[in-house]
Amino acid sequence: MIIAIDGPASSGKGTLARLLARHYGLPHLDTGSLYRAVARKLLRDGADLGDEAAAGRAARALSAADLDDPGLRDETTGEAASIVSAMPDVRAALLDYQRTFAHQPGGAVLDGRDVGTVICPEADAKLFVTAAAAVRARRRADELRARGKAADEHRILEDIEARDRRDTRRAVAPLAPAMDAHLLDTSNLSIEAAFEAAKAVVESAVRKAMAERPPEKPAGL
Ligand code: C5P
Repeated sequence: MIIAIDGPASSGKGTLARLLARHYGLPHLDTGSLYRAVARKLLRDGADLGDEAAAGRAARALSAADLDDPGLRDETTGEAASIVSAMPDVRAALLDYQRTFAHQPGGAVLDGRDVGTVICPEADAKLFVTAAAAVRARRRADELRARGKAADEHRILEDIEARDRRDTRRAVAPLAPAMDAHLLDTSNLSIEAAFEAAKAVVESAVRKAMAERPPEKPAGL
């Protein structure tokens, strides 16, 4: 079973993806971490963030260790990730890895911006998770404060809105719900309630897939 979860920054998609993966015993890929890792490499090397050739090279050279970098979750890295992720060469370099991950035996849960539209249009269940920008900014600020970091909520809101604009307006794989995605607005939902709603979407997709499966032929025919 492949579960695709897309949505804007801090919508709760990552938390839901992790919870669903644990619940169904599936491996999980946070696809945003790939773009963050590319951005992080460029920042570390002091390269120009607009240099598509360098970004493409960094994407093709990604290793598992790059995904463990503790700096991946920094605001600067997220901002830079949204710049490099608009580059066709970077997206192309990361496509096969994501598709192979999704199609491993038993399936997987992937979250990002284009999982249901580009990476896995054939996913069994698709969710598009949203929340009002102000709610997302508050969540992000709470998350940073919980980690003992300072957080300027107004500034975070501006960053979130800028990132939304960049992610939805880019020419390649823009952030958009797939036609067959279920929309889940988590603005007024607790994590528990959002998880229950997400699980209901997955269960209904599984029931639909079972109903559409051709009946098995009796042995010997
Ligand atoms: O989800 P996260 O905030 O970690 O993603 C960082 C950036 O990576 C996003 O702002 C977006 O520009 C990019 N991204 C993407 N496609 C994905 C996942 C993330 O373009 N599938």
